[in-house]
Amino acid sequence: MYLGLDLGTSGLKGLLIDETQGVVAEAAAPLGVSRPAPGWSEQSPADWIAAAEAVMEALSRSAGLGAVRAIGLSGHMHGATLLDTADEVLRPCILWNDTRSHVEAAVLDGDPMFRRISGNIVFPGFTAPKLDWVRAHEPRIWERVAKVLLPKDYLRLWLTGEHVAEMSDAAGTSWLDTGARDWSDDLLAATGLTRSHMPRLIEGSEVSGRLRAELANRWGLPGDVVVAGGGGDNAASGVGVGVVRAGDAFVSLGTSGVLFAANDGYRPAPDTAVHTFCHALPQTWHQMGVILAATDALNWYGRFVDRDAAALTAELGALQAPGKTVFLPYLGGERTPLNDAAIRGALTGLEHATDRAAGTRAVLEGVTFALRDCRDALAVTGTRLERLVAVGGGSRSEYWLSAIATALGVPVMLPQAGDFGGAFGAARLAMMAATGAGAEIATLPPIARVIEPVTALSDAFDAGHARYRAAQSAIRGLT
Ligand code: XUL
Repeated sequence: MYLGLDLGTSGLKGLLIDETQGVVAEAAAPLGVSRPAPGWSEQSPADWIAAAEAVMEALSRSAGLGAVRAIGLSGHMHGATLLDTADEVLRPCILWNDTRSHVEAAVLDGDPMFRRISGNIVFPGFTAPKLDWVRAHEPRIWERVAKVLLPKDYLRLWLTGEHVAEMSDAAGTSWLDTGARDWSDDLLAATGLTRSHMPRLIEGSEVSGRLRAELANRWGLPGDVVVAGGGGDNAASGVGVGVVRAGDAFVSLGTSGVLFAANDGYRPAPDTAVHTFCHALPQTWHQMGVILAATDALNWYGRFVDRDAAALTAELGALQAPGKTVFLPYLGGERTPLNDAAIRGALTGLEHATDRAAGTRAVLEGVTFALRDCRDALAVTGTRLERLVAVGGGSRSEYWLSAIATALGVPVMLPQAGDFGGAFGAARLAMMAATGAGAEIATLPPIARVIEPVTALSDAFDAGHARYRAAQSAIRGLT
């Protein structure tokens, strides 16, 4: 059996698969995000460990872990987990959707070397500018930084005792030479760091270390369990849904929203605000458009009207033409295509008749139009989407998937019940590390339904997108 652990922003999930990739058991533990100041977003690494312990104990009770051969890791990307020389955590982890370092990011991005070597804009959510922020605002902590780990790699340190990162997550730091798949000494030096601050690099399907004996004994695992490199949550999801070859793509409706395409080579296009990262398999790369709030936007609206996301989407019937109400989902700034940490969301076109359901539709449409902007940014680079697999909690809403299919003009495939996202991809990477298998086991999961565009509404969605773009232009600069 193989175990995937996915450290998500809202919870940690564990998924156990057998030799035929059948799902044997699942367990999850919730995680919260702390927002101590506007634009800030943090988590305590101790909470990740507590969540992982809860998940491991639950799986050990429900399924037994005696047959596990390997563990794979997936996790939210870009977080700065700062450790001292004794591997003690120096401050809460600054997360991917934290925009406090926008000034530092703009300074680094102003140096053409960063886009040239890393292949990406230096976004405020990426790791390097966060370190510059810590240097400027928390110098005593900065002086004690001995290692910088990405969130799932901190879990790995706890599981194995090893400092190791893998390419897909490392590509989101702004310190990787993404084409060469190696840390860049020049980019590190530009933020006052050296290779000694970085973990060792491997590929996602390689072995990073062995599970510590103490933990194996505690949960009843064998003594020789290997831990695979794994992947950033998006690359791991790509492995989970079989998006590993050029032409394949998926849409992820998680806390963030992602439109992800596998590529046939390294194709950086930083001017478009498209992210170009290493994939979790050797010598493969991918591109993605990233929006900062997908289910995060729906959950925000749910708190506003005192209903949970499932209740809100349950009261929508069949797909409707977008109405006058337009929602811009920029609750904490935006990445693709705007690269704007200061922009904030808006709900425009309200009228007496606007009710809760109209608001829900506007929120789902707003996120959908933001993903259409990502589709357009990808198109500028020459990447076209033929069809999409849907992953993430938001894919439970058929209304939302139908809106995406219609607004983007592509069929959306919904996998059969079960989670084929990061945790499943991490379990597949574990299987690769243990058996030597490769991309051939990363197949498309069984599809429950294909949601086709509602062509009768295509014009209405084009018009809705035009209204969305007009609202976007109108609020830019309004902070
Ligand atoms: C990707 C990104 C998010 C996080 C959280 O660049 O920031 O998708 O990985 O899921």
